[in-house]
Amino acid sequence: MEIITESLRKFNTFGLDASSKGIIAINSEQDLFDFLVQGLSPAKILGGGSNILLTQDLDAYILKNNIKGIEVVDEDADQVIVKVGAGESWHQFVLWALSHNLGGLENLSLIPGSVGAAPMQNIGAYGVEQENIFHSLNAIHLDTGVRKTLFKSECKFGYRESVFKNELYSQFFITHVSYILSKRNHVLHLEYGAIKDVLLNNNITEPSIRDISDAVIEIRQSKLPDPKKIGNAGSFFKNPVIHLSQYQDLKIKYPDMPSYPVDLQTVKVPAGWLIEQAGMKGFTIGSIGVHKLQALVLVNYGGGKGKDLWQLALDVQSKVRDKFNIIIHPEVNIW
Ligand code: EPU
Repeated sequence: MEIITESLRKFNTFGLDASSKGIIAINSEQDLFDFLVQGLSPAKILGGGSNILLTQDLDAYILKNNIKGIEVVDEDADQVIVKVGAGESWHQFVLWALSHNLGGLENLSLIPGSVGAAPMQNIGAYGVEQENIFHSLNAIHLDTGVRKTLFKSECKFGYRESVFKNELYSQFFITHVSYILSKRNHVLHLEYGAIKDVLLNNNITEPSIRDISDAVIEIRQSKLPDPKKIGNAGSFFKNPVIHLSQYQDLKIKYPDMPSYPVDLQTVKVPAGWLIEQAGMKGFTIGSIGVHKLQALVLVNYGGGKGKDLWQLALDVQSKVRDKFNIIIHPEVNIW
């Protein structure tokens, strides 16, 4: 077992420097068992590093999930179950599915990060969340080394939420995730406004799953910064859900406020819009800031510090609270 002692900078998409007790690549279940018998603790699990903000040096071992492999484990005439190594890149998995004409992942194209991180925060975009196609996952308990399979209902998926961000936080190392993908009669999700517009602009009236993926990629590239060029972790905050009465009051004052109904009592409001209205879109201080095209994304232009980004996040949060009396909560994990 090799313990690498280098900065975590390359291992997080914000590109932030932080040290740890050592980084251990986990390429197989056996590698994890080898680590567990050493009794080294505490351990933190890292996937693609695309949803964390490192605010300090970490007094922990970092287990870098590198478990690979994509395998069809079951199929009938209509669908397949695909078991994927948690260390696979999410977008590479999407591309693999498209190349096999398997449907279900196309709206989730170009999301940074690893397959193992997808169920943690129930990634979602353009009208689809990974829970829509999730079948089960395999995980190993870090204290006992016991293998466990968790099915959908046990994962308690919600909007950017799962049992792994709550009751089971830091308890399991996810080794594989299985998804149900369609072989034919793909169910297309075109309801998200921008998708329809992009398809129309490209003169596509009967889109394939590949066309939808291309449209999603086009939309994402037009406003979300590429973490390879500008450090970021995608949406920094979740879109807040507010009570209908507060929404109605705000709508009188701000008739242009976008919103999505959640249920009869509550409405989701885009945090990006709130942040922009609070005057923070494009705000820059030193080498960090709020992205100029999508206010929900905080960025590190290079050389920024995690604790400064966290302070900026708190400033953004209080600006929004002062203007709208709405508290926006981080979507990224703060380490
Ligand atoms: N908006 C603004 N100003 C901004 C940003 C957005 O006014 O600076 C408005 C837009 O005009 C639009 C609304 O807010 O009316 C929603 O914006 P957008 O469609 O860009 O989506 P979002 O709510 O900002 C969410 C997800 C994204 C996901 C997109 C598309 C969250 C926290 N974020 O963003 O997910 O890609 O919808 O489905 O739910 C991520 O989680 O990292 C992520 C990028």
